[in-house]
Amino acid sequence: MESLPVPSVQEMVAATDGADVPPRYLRPEETADPIVAGDIDAEIPVIDFQRLLDPDASHEESARLHGACQDWGFFQLINHGVPSDVVEGMKENTEGFFRLPAETKKQVAQERRQLEGYGHLFVVSEDQKLDWSDVLFLNTQPPQGRNMRFWPDRPCNFRSILDKYSTAAMNIVERLLAIMAKNMGLEPGAITDKFIGGIQSVRMNYYPPCAQAEKVIGLSPHSDAGLLTLVLQVNQVKGLQIRRNGSWVPVKPLDGALIVNLGDTFEIFTNGRYRSVEHRVVVDTDKERLSIAAFHAPNMHAKIGPLKEIVAHEAEVYKTVDHENFRRLFFSAKLVGKSFLERMKLKSSS
Ligand code: OGA
Ligand code: NI
Repeated sequence: MESLPVPSVQEMVAATDGADVPPRYLRPEETADPIVAGDIDAEIPVIDFQRLLDPDASHEESARLHGACQDWGFFQLINHGVPSDVVEGMKENTEGFFRLPAETKKQVAQERRQLEGYGHLFVVSEDQKLDWSDVLFLNTQPPQGRNMRFWPDRPCNFRSILDKYSTAAMNIVERLLAIMAKNMGLEPGAITDKFIGGIQSVRMNYYPPCAQAEKVIGLSPHSDAGLLTLVLQVNQVKGLQIRRNGSWVPVKPLDGALIVNLGDTFEIFTNGRYRSVEHRVVVDTDKERLSIAAFHAPNMHAKIGPLKEIVAHEAEVYKTVDHENFRRLFFSAKLVGKSFLERMKLKSSS
């Protein structure tokens, strides 16, 4: 077994009590970009999934969803219908996994230049600055893409709960995609057809506390690559912030809600009508934070480019590439804001 490319932050904190921050984690350039008061009270919209599905209420709730997608790119989904034993099981297992002894966790450690497994996110070079977090990243859909070698078998129901959560999340995403397509005046299948056999991966994020929290960053500013991301917050420690009108707005997760955000693929599909939104995670001085992000992308055969129906009467802003290429481009670069999406733009557009 190969060793981790870098030691886990958790181990480092345990060894030093978090007082010593190694230079690779000091991020003056990022942390100089504080939350700007003014927008600090702004809160992302709340969408009720049951109302979206209820014939008597869906019209109104769909309109609210459309507004949330256009104005925010982020919303909280309540009444999402994922059984509470599955939600609670996911939370307990995520905490349980990160509490395992370091040696046990390393049995599912990332291998060099691979994303899957336990380790760090996006380490592409030796001198790169690092985020203050450890991750467990797993391919979950389609089922044949699962690499069980990286799926922990402890806590003992880890695999079965993740399987249930994965299926539930796919169903929610499929439903949302159909409604979102309709909201944009597209055929209901315009996006969901590309999501048949769609790709899902789940990343469990562990952000240890840091005595010098203001000098590190839990997760660098980025937008997600895929269509939709569902984030389940494991404990109540805040940290997720979204970029809005030039400032960072903290997200206040509602208990039991799923935080949904639009990724770059959505922006490309809709030729920029719905945009992906930059977000980041800051670290707490004395509390650990855990979250579970489920990323959803089209199937491997789908071309990533503006949808034909959308660009029938307007100029294409983004390139069209095949999915494999798109993923290779995304995962070979470090996350830097929305810079990846910029590279997907056609030269002629501004
Ligand atoms: C991510 C992400 C947010 C969080 O994993 O891409 O944005 O709250 N996570 O951990
Ligand atoms: Ni993200």
